[in-house]
Amino acid sequence: MLNFVYDIPTKVFFGKGQISHLAEQIKRFGNKILLTYGSGSIKERWLYDEVITILKAENIQYRELANIEPNPDITSVREGIKICKENNIQLILAVGGGSTIDASKCIALGYFYDGDPRDIFSKETNITQALPLWTILTLAATWSEMNAWMVISNRELQEKLSYVSSILCPQFAILDPTYTFSVPLKQTIAGIVDIMSHIFEQYFSPTEATEVQDSIAEWLLQTCIYYGHHVIADLQNYDARANIMRAGSLALNWLTGLGKEQDRATHSIEHALSAVYDITHGDWLAIVFPHRMEYVLWDGTDTKILDKFVDLATHVRNIPFLGEPLAIAKAGIHALQNFRSQIGAPAKLSDVDIITPDLDLLADKIIAHGPIGWFKQLEKKDVISILQACE
Ligand code: NZQ
Ligand code: ZN
Repeated sequence: MLNFVYDIPTKVFFGKGQISHLAEQIKRFGNKILLTYGSGSIKERWLYDEVITILKAENIQYRELANIEPNPDITSVREGIKICKENNIQLILAVGGGSTIDASKCIALGYFYDGDPRDIFSKETNITQALPLWTILTLAATWSEMNAWMVISNRELQEKLSYVSSILCPQFAILDPTYTFSVPLKQTIAGIVDIMSHIFEQYFSPTEATEVQDSIAEWLLQTCIYYGHHVIADLQNYDARANIMRAGSLALNWLTGLGKEQDRATHSIEHALSAVYDITHGDWLAIVFPHRMEYVLWDGTDTKILDKFVDLATHVRNIPFLGEPLAIAKAGIHALQNFRSQIGAPAKLSDVDIITPDLDLLADKIIAHGPIGWFKQLEKKDVISILQACE
């Protein structure tokens, strides 16, 4: 296991009615806030009204940034920074999923930078401050509400770029599973796939002797599968929504990843694909992940890789430990694929209306900064093979 520091500064209020803590927490940091949200799902329910009622009752001054798009665009970030600067905003309250929260993180950082926020992703800006960020999560998937990452798209340049800094961790997060009752089926499925992909990427690491992290990861995957079935059967099942939300929280807040080299190759593929084809993050992952697993396992000659897939098959999918290890490993991948199709996740590019893509161009984008992946390094030819299998 590698050395690490575990420091998650986000204070989480989990469960029904936790919004009652909103005003007291905001007032600790200021009285002028920017309220951010997406294309309007919070207005279709009572959540928007509830937030506004609290802000008004507590005399908290607010400005709004609405219409943050899924796969948030840098243009929304620019608009948000402008509002913050013009109104001396003291903190940001993001109400939504990963897109709204990520855009808010970029605004929080860009507030302390005089140039264009796109520069942040060039890693040369060295901004050391960010506005405090509060979140109310409405969709369990990315765990952006408790981590230090942000992912921002630039549609004009066909880019989707990520950035990590500890100063981006939100200070405060309300996680009320009832807020996710209205998440549509398609988005619920994509969220489950995203959560499981985050766990896989930390599980499949070349670092050895990480049984604690790996056992937690296996338990989280089983939870996603068990409650995934329940939530798909009943989108308003509180226990299922709560467990998926909690699993999502633990999937990407370093719990299973620290102390290990982390392999984000599938997300690197997704980011490049998403920059060209603006489709749902989790849909991409559902299509790419099984093929990447099969490609990495290949004929099982790399015994370290084979052993890990055997663990996954036997511990997570309860495949009996009988017979050839390669057959066990493949049966595990197959069983995971079955789960994805049972819940209705897309399986191939045509399922998301992508026909005859330019694989060469996509592969160049994916490895623009060199080979990807730690568990098994992928070069252009590897990436093309994986994409071909997705067709
Ligand atoms: O636009 P709104 O009104 O918010 O509607 C959203 C959107 O249409 C809707 N939705 C959210 N909560 C809802 C709801 N609809 C009904 N009821 C609710 N309670 O769902 C749609 C998708 O929302 P979005 O925020 O885009 O989804 P998600 O949370 O999956 O975020 C995806 C973005 O996060 C990035 C992805 O790349 C993508 O840009 N990621 C961020 C990460 C991070 N910061 O750590 C890691 C992830 O791997 C990921 O890359
Ligand atoms: Zn993700």
